[in-house]
Amino acid sequence: MDLRTALKQGETLLTEAGVTVPRLTAEVLLCHALGKEKVYLYAHPEEELSQLTWIHYGRYLHERMEGKPTQYITRHQEFFGREFYVTNAVLIPRPETEHLVETALRLMPKAGCAIDLGCGSGAIGITYHLETGSPTHLSDLSRPALEIARYNAAHLGAEVSLHQADFASSLRTQSVDLILCNPPYVPAGDESVLQREIRDHEPALALYGGDSGVEPYRVVVEQALWLLRPGGWVVFELGYQGLQEVRRMLNTPAWEAQEVVHDLAGWPRVLAARRSG
Ligand SMILES: C[S@@+](CC[C@H](N)C(=O)[O-])C[C@H]1O[C@@H](n2cnc3c(N)ncnc32)[C@H](O)[C@@H]1O
Repeated sequence: MDLRTALKQGETLLTEAGVTVPRLTAEVLLCHALGKEKVYLYAHPEEELSQLTWIHYGRYLHERMEGKPTQYITRHQEFFGREFYVTNAVLIPRPETEHLVETALRLMPKAGCAIDLGCGSGAIGITYHLETGSPTHLSDLSRPALEIARYNAAHLGAEVSLHQADFASSLRTQSVDLILCNPPYVPAGDESVLQREIRDHEPALALYGGDSGVEPYRVVVEQALWLLRPGGWVVFELGYQGLQEVRRMLNTPAWEAQEVVHDLAGWPRVLAARRSG
């Protein structure tokens, strides 16, 4: 079978299975099986697939049709122009999380000390460190997630410190300028409304934020009171219903400014607050 036919067949199978963007997905999976860039598919449409490539491609198609996210098959996701290694031990970094990083870079282009709480793959903290050169700590409760973050840091040349912690709980001696946090924020009861790719494949610890979906914010806001220096910023990513609740947590004299940033779809996606001086 040649590449053109393999692509067409893959697209048909994915379409029948109800996978969104079937053509693009077939391209990505075929490229992954070949170990080539997309341009190769269109430059060599008559090339015959080796038996081994066909076996790999077939397996990837099957996995995707069963609901496994493409990124867990190819083991990578681009974030802020860099490739991050991902497995099902970590949340797949989302494009909308780039708003959090952009906001942090604008509010604090350089930090004496920054920390990414709930780092997962390390996408946020590693990116902030690489963009600013600021000393940066990353923490996560999940040891497997920290191993992925460690791999990404080494691979991308980021000299960050990694800690296994319940958010900042074991970092009491730190005094930081910037907290970056994309906590789990899906209410526990909303499991059934998630896409199966998310619900059945991404780690529960990365998704569910207690019954209300805002419990992790409460923990981080409390920790931020002793962790942040006066004038320091906490920058949160928000879930769809998080804005009012998290704003309320920050409406105390301990916080002197708040900023909300909307994503491209118009949702309030990032909330930043400055610790009173
Ligand atoms: C929504 S994911 C965000 C991952 C990554 N920062 C990103 O934006 O792609 C939330 C992360 O918080 C971690 N987490 C959940 N509960 C935690 C806790 N109590 N302490 C520390 N990390 C926690 C999860 O393991 C997961 O990696």
